[in-house]
Amino acid sequence: MTTSFAVTIHERFFVAGNWKMFKSPIEAMQYFEGDTLLDLPLDTVDVVLFVPDVYIYLLRRLAWQKGILLGAQDCSSEMEGPYTGEISPVMLRALGCDFVLAGHSERRRLFGETDDLIAQKTRAILGAGMTPVVCVGETAEERQAGQTFSTVERQLHAVLQVLNYDETNRILVAYEPVWAIGTGLNCSREDAEKVIYHLKELLYRLRYATEHFRTLYGGSVTRENVKEYAASNLIDGVLVGGASLHPKMFVDISVISRDARVALLSRTKRYPMEW
Ligand code: PGA
Repeated sequence: MTTSFAVTIHERFFVAGNWKMFKSPIEAMQYFEGDTLLDLPLDTVDVVLFVPDVYIYLLRRLAWQKGILLGAQDCSSEMEGPYTGEISPVMLRALGCDFVLAGHSERRRLFGETDDLIAQKTRAILGAGMTPVVCVGETAEERQAGQTFSTVERQLHAVLQVLNYDETNRILVAYEPVWAIGTGLNCSREDAEKVIYHLKELLYRLRYATEHFRTLYGGSVTRENVKEYAASNLIDGVLVGGASLHPKMFVDISVISRDARVALLSRTKRYPMEW
């Protein structure tokens, strides 16, 4: 496959954990105890944990001591106002939050979030000085109907419509097929690469920007399969749900990613790859 844009292989791999709505406050703090997290390969891997909002302030020092950045799993599209129950991106930022997920499939599916709302949230997250991780992905039905590309394209397009060139360079995109989330059925590296390539190409067509653009894969990532993704020159990181709840598993995923990445980089320096 050849194309008119060069694929940038990011030297730093991105390993993110999504705790979803799990852990008591005590369990959340215990996660950072002991020496386990000291083995995170922070020289080559960026590590972020998306924790429940109410733990951000509680965990920020513990996370900082271990070189981990904190993210939120959702936020309001508004900065302030009469929106009972909502949490503003400005509030999250003030508590020590650096990243926010926008449009995770559980938000789209269970809480009816639309492409437009997710686009507004992405803008608000950037406006508050944080990095949005925009999640896209098709359902099993859409996949069977051959609509994988059109679905992710629609989802990303909605977000790009409200962002200018500089803002586009500041987002991360996570390709998370809905059928792979929490099912143990991870998407093959080849299929994930096809979709991610499509997303990068879309971005290039619309914005001529790909250099800073990082794309993650998420959906049943484990220490058994993460090597596949980290060894890909198109996949810039992973978003890990269930397996991020155990510090040892999360560290193992990060270490295996680092090793696969280092091997990829030394190979591509010798034999440059073309897409
Ligand atoms: P999973 O979740 O790794 O448990 O499949 C991924 C996610 O929801 O981001």
